[in-house]
Amino acid sequence: MVLFFKKEQILAWRDRTLSDPRFQRWATQFPLTRFVARRRARALFDIAAGFVYTQVLVACMRTGLIAKLREGPASVESLAPLLGLSVAATERLVRAAAALKLVESRGAERWGLGTLGAALLGNAGVQAMIAHHAVLYEDLRDPVALLERDGGGTGLAGYWPYARAAAPSALRAEDVAAYSALMAASNGMVADQVLGAYPVRRHRRLLDVGGGEGAFLTAAAARAPDLQLMLLDLPAVVERARARLGEAGLLGRATLAGGDFFADPWPAGADLITFVRVIHDHDDEAVMRLLRAARAAIASGGTLLIAEPMAGGGEAAIGDAYFGFYLLAMGSGRARTPEQLMKMVTEAGFSAPRLVPTAAPMLARVLLARG
Ligand SMILES: C[S@@+](CC[C@H](N)C(=O)[O-])C[C@H]1O[C@@H](n2cnc3c(N)ncnc32)[C@H](O)[C@@H]1O
Repeated sequence: MVLFFKKEQILAWRDRTLSDPRFQRWATQFPLTRFVARRRARALFDIAAGFVYTQVLVACMRTGLIAKLREGPASVESLAPLLGLSVAATERLVRAAAALKLVESRGAERWGLGTLGAALLGNAGVQAMIAHHAVLYEDLRDPVALLERDGGGTGLAGYWPYARAAAPSALRAEDVAAYSALMAASNGMVADQVLGAYPVRRHRRLLDVGGGEGAFLTAAAARAPDLQLMLLDLPAVVERARARLGEAGLLGRATLAGGDFFADPWPAGADLITFVRVIHDHDDEAVMRLLRAARAAIASGGTLLIAEPMAGGGEAAIGDAYFGFYLLAMGSGRARTPEQLMKMVTEAGFSAPRLVPTAAPMLARVLLARG
């Protein structure tokens, strides 16, 4: 209690000091504090300006600047007509993009891809995520209003119609097309995390719950040639999975179940059940129903695997800030800490929950438990 009181006092003193303009001025000039003070000021500015950086990125994508530079370095004058902008506007965009490492100067008034621009070009999933952020951007126009009405009823809620649908099974092909394509395009980077962290090869039959178009199953099948594949998703999404798995020549190994995973029977017999980017979509009571259904469907001694970005830890900016507000706008779900998920899976009847490390926890952390 005494210790707690002292810590509180120290933190109150720190907050008072850091918010004092005279201290701020002194700290940015005094040699021993200058570096930290500038770094802190810079971090604060980056948060304040983040939405401008985002829109520079959007302009780079929408005008085709990044795609054009794939062909090689170019001058502002030659880029301008290709982007449909004046020379002055192109110059402004290119300089802003260079400051964000999306493009870089190649000397003699020529510009090429920057390190981040090149990385973006190689990642169709990130490009698709950026494009769909237009909907979220509108939803976040008044963040306080979004908090006050407790989310939902917005653009993103329409993009993910299952989040608040009374009868999700009735969603039509056109309702699920946009989000299913986005999930398939971005699944590769998540699948790499999961399959790099956990050897699915040791299992006989994998049920991917909310498995979308089957992108994760396709990646798993490539690593485990003898694995039987099962997928449970909404009927309209399962039709998309049928087409994708058919193209990949995997239909002979696959069982596809179309239905509402809250209401319809689950295929039984899997010794590995995966939820990839599914649990965080749902509120606690719904998650408990999903976990109990998984417990009932899993083969004795089977493994439950949950993969998604989680709250807390070193990647809290993604889990708590980005997904915190993203899921609020969508209208259901929340990012959970590994500890919260472990408690829930244990309550649902699974045992020995544990995290396995992934190479990029910002994309997905992986939690395992025994059935
Ligand atoms: C965020 S997506 C994740 C897709 C895929 N696992 C991935 O990571 O690419 C959630 C998936 O859950 C499915 N889903 C949502 N509600 C459902 C329900 N009530 N019954 C069956 N599937 C549902 C959606 O159709 C969607 O494919």
